[in-house]
Amino acid sequence: MKSSDGFEIEQLDTVRVQMGDQSCDLPLIEGSEGERALDISRLRAETGAITLDEGFVNTGSTRSAITFLDGEKGVLRYRGYPIEKLAASCDFIETAFLLIYGELPNAKEIETFRAGIREHTMLHQDMKSFYNGFPRDAHPMAILASVVGALSTFYQDSLDLDDDRQVEISIYRLLAKLPTIAAYSYKKSIGQPFMYPKNSLDYTENFLHMMFATPTEEYELDPDFAEALNLLLIVHADHEQNCSTSTVRMVGSSNANLFASISAGISALWGPLHGGANEACVNMLEQIARDGGDVKKYVDMAKDKDNPFRLMGFGHRVYKNFDPRATIIRACCDKLLDKLNLDDPLFEVAQQLQEVALKDEYFIERKLYPNVDFYSGVIYRALGIPVQMFTVLFAIGRLPGWIAHWREMHNSPGFRINRPRQIYTGHTERNVTPLESR
Ligand code: CMC
Repeated sequence: MKSSDGFEIEQLDTVRVQMGDQSCDLPLIEGSEGERALDISRLRAETGAITLDEGFVNTGSTRSAITFLDGEKGVLRYRGYPIEKLAASCDFIETAFLLIYGELPNAKEIETFRAGIREHTMLHQDMKSFYNGFPRDAHPMAILASVVGALSTFYQDSLDLDDDRQVEISIYRLLAKLPTIAAYSYKKSIGQPFMYPKNSLDYTENFLHMMFATPTEEYELDPDFAEALNLLLIVHADHEQNCSTSTVRMVGSSNANLFASISAGISALWGPLHGGANEACVNMLEQIARDGGDVKKYVDMAKDKDNPFRLMGFGHRVYKNFDPRATIIRACCDKLLDKLNLDDPLFEVAQQLQEVALKDEYFIERKLYPNVDFYSGVIYRALGIPVQMFTVLFAIGRLPGWIAHWREMHNSPGFRINRPRQIYTGHTERNVTPLESR
């Protein structure tokens, strides 16, 4: 059947909602992986009532064919492909193509895609002057959101949402320029000259080059660093209707251009409840190391019900058995630490914490495993990426997912502005008392 917003859906049944003498038959629908939902789109028209679901815990905001996850079984698939298979066989740019266009690219398609991205890696020279205006200690996420928003001032030739070619160019520009914008924000914070992108390098190599090369020294790229970064970007590339993705959809639903919508997504990701957990994890590991490395003391604190302390990087709201992304990057993390053999007490603490927590009854019973943020924080640290840049890396990884959702929404039948309702709980009508009498 066709739902009220034009999608083909499987209807299983109807559910009758009775309110006094009014009733409404709501379709019970099912997605392709068996998830069921009540379609309430006719509820208000037929009964005058709306639903209330603060935090959207029970609310499907859209139908989407991009990412499927099953938290109980530890499943994450992009366009039907398990994340483990993609991480083993594809690079980040192929994954981005898959998310945005729905299919894995063939050899010709991926070459065109890579070439298109390479063509746009430089920033407009005038854009560099923005960086002079930011304070030296500006958070790189603030710079990222501002400069991405400002892309719409430089590329006014590609803002027409109804012109597929213009949208396409904006997609290339975003994918190409975000690493450059990000690396420049880091260079600004340490007072080093910006390094131009080098188009002979691939996506992750180029980012590492812009981050760590200087005009005075040869920078030798470590292929294991580029590989680790590639994996991290892949596992972060999409996670269905999370806070930042929903933000991109919400802003995009007003027909705001792609740059403005992505800039809003970056701001949403910046919040510590969303993109900031790996930063919190490394800060905690540093604190434990500074405090003499007594891991057991912190595990006991986390278990103490009278102590609000939690082990950062453990547990997950959705993945209740294991986080498939953590499993993938754990191997990479172990390999990197073995190879680098770095003299940093933080890694010793991370290793011990992982071992203690995995054997402890408290963590086993509650299914609290190290999550993606635990290992990604440790990997970023090993790569020499400063803590403030962690969420920036997350944004570079999540960009294809945001674009895919923005595009899916605009191409959906029945697309309309997102406009939730509310249950008003304020004053009923009252009179304005003149100022002198208040
Ligand atoms: N340390 C110690 N105890 C914990 C932890 C932890 N990290 N996480 C959960 N618990 C306990 C919690 O106290 C509760 O115990 P009890 O049943 O005795 O009251 C039980 O485990 C269930 O916890 P919950 O708070 O109901 O679980 P939740 O699903 O609401 O929370 C979480 C999930 C991720 C917010 C939480 O595990 C947490 O705060 N973890 C640390 C922060 C972190 O690593 N966040 C990043 C998550 S990955 C983000 C992403 O996917 O991008």
